[in-house]
Amino acid sequence: MMVVSHDTAAGTRPTAGGASGAGAVPQALARVMSFIDPRLERALQLSDDAAPRLLEAMRYSLLAPGKRLRPALVLWAAEACMPASAAEATPIQAWDTAAGAAVAVEMIHAYSLVHDDLPAMDDDDLRRGRPTCHRAFDEATAILCGDALQALAFETLVGSLPAPVAARGLRVLAQASGPEALVGGQSDDLAAERGWLDRSGPEGREEQVAWMERIHRRKTGALFRAALTLGGLAAGANDRQLAALDGYGRAFGLAFQIADDLLDAEGNEATTGKRVGKDAERGKLTYPTVLGLSESRRRAVALAAEAESMLSELPASADDLRHLASWIVTRDH
Ligand code: IPE
Ligand code: IPE
Ligand code: MG
Ligand code: MG
Ligand code: MG
Repeated sequence: MMVVSHDTAAGTRPTAGGASGAGAVPQALARVMSFIDPRLERALQLSDDAAPRLLEAMRYSLLAPGKRLRPALVLWAAEACMPASAAEATPIQAWDTAAGAAVAVEMIHAYSLVHDDLPAMDDDDLRRGRPTCHRAFDEATAILCGDALQALAFETLVGSLPAPVAARGLRVLAQASGPEALVGGQSDDLAAERGWLDRSGPEGREEQVAWMERIHRRKTGALFRAALTLGGLAAGANDRQLAALDGYGRAFGLAFQIADDLLDAEGNEATTGKRVGKDAERGKLTYPTVLGLSESRRRAVALAAEAESMLSELPASADDLRHLASWIVTRDH
């Protein structure tokens, strides 16, 4: 971890210090939040042409207190890939370079949550400790809010990077958000629950595990991988660095979603800020329902270790990423 002492105003990276290992993650995420939240706020300063109710819903959803994991991955990937000399000379440069990408990824994530909670999808009424967007506003506004955040994400990304990097970055974010990734995974997630499958569905434990893994990799994992790649691209990462980040992201994404499923099965609303026990109620295919709690936990921990091992060739500036992998499977929210 690089220690810098700038304040938290625009263009600076907040000060590091305190606990170490996974125990340092909450503090590290708090630093990400204090860096990224003012930028999320600024990204929503739109002209009068943005309808007031729509803009209010966008602010409500984007600025709500999430963990900001995806911006953290963007910023920490950039930090891990900055040439050592540049990183030492200007430790805040990596975060500044990748800030627009971090904002864009959080916008895609926030949109996906707003739509995920809709009555037509998971039909949830609590998100980030608050009423879901369609409950606080109305269903039509929530749909439009998601649409608007998604479009604004691409506009934000393209404006934040030099042209050749922006073109590559746009493709990365579009693919991760699209029918072969996030949206495809969401569709299959519902298909399993609602019997839309054109065949009998996965049978037997191993087939169910493989099916779930495919859903998780797309609905959740793809955006994490995109976040890491975008951070790397913003910092000028080489192919080896990008491959390391991608290997980390693949294992991390699956570990994250198993932990999310475990929290739904055994967590509580006060810490998660969302309803629990809904996956089983709705008949979703999840790791805990297919494999049981302890085997799910074992797999999540093994995947976190696998994620961390992927970073072996990256320097100490990748430590926040390393620590995040083990934190993600022990978190309570
Ligand atoms: C929740 O993601 C949705 C999933 C992809 C499972 P997070 O747990 O990262 O949600 P926030 O951003 O902290 O609210
Ligand atoms: C949501 O998965 C994944 C996306 C939003 C793309 P879940 O439905 O499990 O997320 P939560 O539990 O509602 O946050
Ligand atoms: Mg869902
Ligand atoms: Mg949901
Ligand atoms: Mg869930």
